[in-house]
Amino acid sequence: MQLGLQGKVAIVTGGSKGIGQATALGLIAEGASVLACARGKEALEETVRSAGKQGEGRIVGMPADLTQGQAIKDVVARCLEVFGRVDILVNNAGSARPGEFLKLPDEAWLDDWTLKFFGYMRMAREVLPHMQKQKSGVIVNIIGTGALRPIGGYMIGGAANAALNHFTKALADEGAKHGVRVVGINPGPILTERLQRFLSTFSSGSADAEEAMSKMTPLGRVGKSEEVADLVLFLASERAAFIHGANITIDGGANPGLMG
Ligand SMILES: NC(=O)c1ccc[n+]([C@@H]2O[C@H](COP(=O)([O-])OP(=O)(O)OC[C@H]3O[C@@H](n4cnc5c(N)ncnc54)[C@H](OP(=O)(O)O)[C@@H]3O)[C@@H](O)[C@H]2O)c1
Repeated sequence: MQLGLQGKVAIVTGGSKGIGQATALGLIAEGASVLACARGKEALEETVRSAGKQGEGRIVGMPADLTQGQAIKDVVARCLEVFGRVDILVNNAGSARPGEFLKLPDEAWLDDWTLKFFGYMRMAREVLPHMQKQKSGVIVNIIGTGALRPIGGYMIGGAANAALNHFTKALADEGAKHGVRVVGINPGPILTERLQRFLSTFSSGSADAEEAMSKMTPLGRVGKSEEVADLVLFLASERAAFIHGANITIDGGANPGLMG
């Protein structure tokens, strides 16, 4: 299937590791240009190196802490300066800590929402006027199945994800007026650094925890970053032109509910 992403320009937040890195490299392989941002410079440089010769002139790594409103403005400005436009935004940089409700102070809620919810909302608000001018664009929000399965030990992330599922649909309603498509992806367990960190808080041996988590999916394994990236690429492409305002689950069948 030809995705037709050649010549498109994408911003991938959290593009230096895990799902974001796989997405950035996937977009490069499809002929798009990418501005990848994250805090750590080294991992960004490694991602640019991984893009190899085919990425020359088409991938820029920009250190930025997306909890800061100014950094978000700077990322979009840099993308416009280097590539002249922005066709695709992949909102992906996020993480929320698990923990017991009574042990999580306001700061934990505020910090994690500042990245996962406000980071996505601010980034969308920053790119939308440019996409509006172009009368085209796609925003893909990487959210999480925590939205669909509330549990006591993951309230901060679960509630942020539920809010982002809502935000995706509401932004799709707004975006349609401007020719901008908006979609969300709810990944289940995907084997990245973040999942490994998460597992280590629940168990002393991460191999045991990975095995236990694998058993929770009917497919009997956790997912790969590249599998989520492939879905992002499809959704960002013209082949998905009629998919709008949908939140799509990719979790090996782990979500038992009717929705998602
Ligand atoms: N992996 C899963 O099982 C899973 C499941 C459901 C949902 N998700 C969601 O998928 C997304 C990606 O997850 P992942 O597992 O790929 O995570 P990951 O491997 O930990 O990578 C996270 C990326 O975000 C960047 N980042 C973190 N904090 C940032 C900040 N303040 N400003 C800018 N960049 C920041 C990281 O780089 P720096 O640390 O250098 O900044 C890194 O590039 C997240 O939104 C996560 O909630 C993941």
